[in-house]
Amino acid sequence: MATNPLDNKSEAWSALFSEPMSDLVKRYTASVSFDQRLWRADIAGSLAHAEMLCHQGIISAEDRASIERGMAQITADIEAGRFEWKLELEDVHLNIEARLTQLVGDAGKRLHTGRSRNDQVATDVRLWLRGEIDTLLPLLGAMQIALVDVAEKNIDTILPGFTHMQVAQPVSFGHHLLAYVEMFARDADRLADVRKRVNQLPLGAAALAGTSYPLDRERVAHTLGFDGVCQNSLDAVSDRDFALEFTAFASITMVHISRLAEELVLWMSQNFGFIDLADRYCTGSSIMPQKRNPDVAELARGKSGRVVGHLMGLITLMKGQPLAYNKDNQEDKEPLFDTVDTVRDTLRIMAEMVAGIIVKPEAMERAALKGYATATDLADYLVKKGLPFRDAHEAVAHAVKHAISRGVDLSALPLSTLQGFHASITDDVFEVLTLRGSLNARNVPGGTAPAQVRAQIVRHRARLS
Ligand code: ARG
Repeated sequence: MATNPLDNKSEAWSALFSEPMSDLVKRYTASVSFDQRLWRADIAGSLAHAEMLCHQGIISAEDRASIERGMAQITADIEAGRFEWKLELEDVHLNIEARLTQLVGDAGKRLHTGRSRNDQVATDVRLWLRGEIDTLLPLLGAMQIALVDVAEKNIDTILPGFTHMQVAQPVSFGHHLLAYVEMFARDADRLADVRKRVNQLPLGAAALAGTSYPLDRERVAHTLGFDGVCQNSLDAVSDRDFALEFTAFASITMVHISRLAEELVLWMSQNFGFIDLADRYCTGSSIMPQKRNPDVAELARGKSGRVVGHLMGLITLMKGQPLAYNKDNQEDKEPLFDTVDTVRDTLRIMAEMVAGIIVKPEAMERAALKGYATATDLADYLVKKGLPFRDAHEAVAHAVKHAISRGVDLSALPLSTLQGFHASITDDVFEVLTLRGSLNARNVPGGTAPAQVRAQIVRHRARLS
């Protein structure tokens, strides 16, 4: 068999090198321990490249067939866990190419014609990420469906809405959950948009300047399902905005998840008691026998920090890089991989947990009755009786102050007392002061009136089906 220059990597860069790398430098520069995750994309990219080289008459049909045979063997070996990854061969690309040459000889050495690891790695990461995006999009859909399902059962469940974490106005619990559906819908849109820019082919850029071989880049793009080819070779090998954008998407999504997780934690606490989470998402305490802790929700909230951290890491990684490829880019992988894993698992677990929440409508309603949540309704009532809004606001403030001093709700004040705050008040006021009256009154598109919430659910169902 022909000698394989990749058997000893320092020989791969030619006879120019007069001393081998130290073990520390080998370990420091190697990425194979983590980038082997790209192997499927790497092989797919190589096969498409070889097919095109053959079509263009750059390699022979026999060489192409040998490359395909070798890659089939390598695929089987990796799948079976038999492939021997070598640190000395630095990364996934050199490991696979070296093995290919071992298996098929010179045909393997011809594969890298018109290609560089620079356009190869950029292609692999894009291909891999596109596959992950295609897994995440349905998970974002499932998350929304879980929320819509719970919302639909709770259109008429009332809880206090908060601003500044102070009781503000009563809202439908269904409406509250649909707020998160809006967020995740935007996240899905953002991700679909990111996909367009991920799905462009770098191959053909070679090291940085393009290549002197008559490559057919469009053909490779078509084979690999890319929407088009990167239009500038320097940009193609050095751009990582697609990874930044993806991580920005993931950070925003994780922040949405974190806000939801925070609410679940609050709602489950004894002081709220609005919901319960199924036991399978909670853990006990090693010291306090009474404890059931919402660990999964807390972890989901906590994991948003690591994804936002990856975004900062990747942005900083790119900041000082001159054109074109720099080894810095090898550092894009771990944060990107971890971002994908974290957002994927978190979406899955949160959707499941939301689907299983136990809602306690009485506790929610009791809380809504506590904080004078219908005070705005009383002000609106006075406006309808002809008062300017600012005067109505002032009159109601006096009424609330009085009710607080008595320790009762506005609706518990006698009509004669209420009339003391404004003479125009009549006994139809009590309908206005109920939670349900308050909800029904907010019948504007996007408002919390049950009729509006129902209409939103219909819209979401149609969109998500
Ligand atoms: N392992 C490298 C990376 O992840 C592959 C590209 C290396 N290119 C090079 N010229 N050293 O970026």
